[in-house]
Amino acid sequence: MHIIKLNAIDSTNSYLKELVVDELVQNFTAVVAEHQISGRGQMGTVWESEKGKNLTFSVLIEFDSLRITDQFYLSMAVALGVLTGVKGYVNSNLYVKWPNDILADKDKLAGILIENILKGANVKYAIVGIGVNVNQELFSNEIKNVTSLKKNSGHSIDKDALLEKIVASIKYFVGFVEKKQFQELKELYIDVLFKFNKPAMFIDNSGNQFLGKIIDISEDGRLEIELENEKTRKFNLKEIKFASR
Ligand code: BTN
Repeated sequence: MHIIKLNAIDSTNSYLKELVVDELVQNFTAVVAEHQISGRGQMGTVWESEKGKNLTFSVLIEFDSLRITDQFYLSMAVALGVLTGVKGYVNSNLYVKWPNDILADKDKLAGILIENILKGANVKYAIVGIGVNVNQELFSNEIKNVTSLKKNSGHSIDKDALLEKIVASIKYFVGFVEKKQFQELKELYIDVLFKFNKPAMFIDNSGNQFLGKIIDISEDGRLEIELENEKTRKFNLKEIKFASR
């Protein structure tokens, strides 16, 4: 495994993105930082992580022929890879909260930010950014429903060994994407999907709360929710969130 270790950087995703443009980078190279000065989360949020305590890293994945329209399968593969990589370290049930947060019971353990470099109708490179809460024990009061491997298990964890495990398991699930085994991947994802087929409260982007249950994920990665009136609606990332966890 090829690892680039950095002490401090703005964001490992930004660093790796620039590196790929400037030079040849081996597939599955991981850039890991002890501290990110401006770690980025999904939808323009900030990823907070206590210096030296956690894993904040980005992995480069190169594709020969991944259509942009199939990119959600990569998101599934990465989520499954992270979930499987942390499995031996937790006492709780692990879930993927759509689209790709990793939860231990109801609490967020890891987040994923994938940024694609496109070529025509294909994804040429994916910059897969992952933040795993490893040995951090205290979190700011503003961050709710969060945990770490140490909080969950009571033990300190060797970050280097964990990094190797996660990257190896991402590689395994990305194999499904490379072989276009999309249906198998989707079944594995649905198996661990938080609140799948269970009634849950959601909020749409107009602030309306409603009861529904997740019944499927569409090919483009949208969440399919069955409403109380038995109609189905599809939502993309910007259109919906869980009301409570
Ligand atoms: C989220 O849940 O909002 C996604 C968080 C992704 C954080 C990781 S940490 C390593 C990589 N570099 C970044 O700036 N972000 C990702």
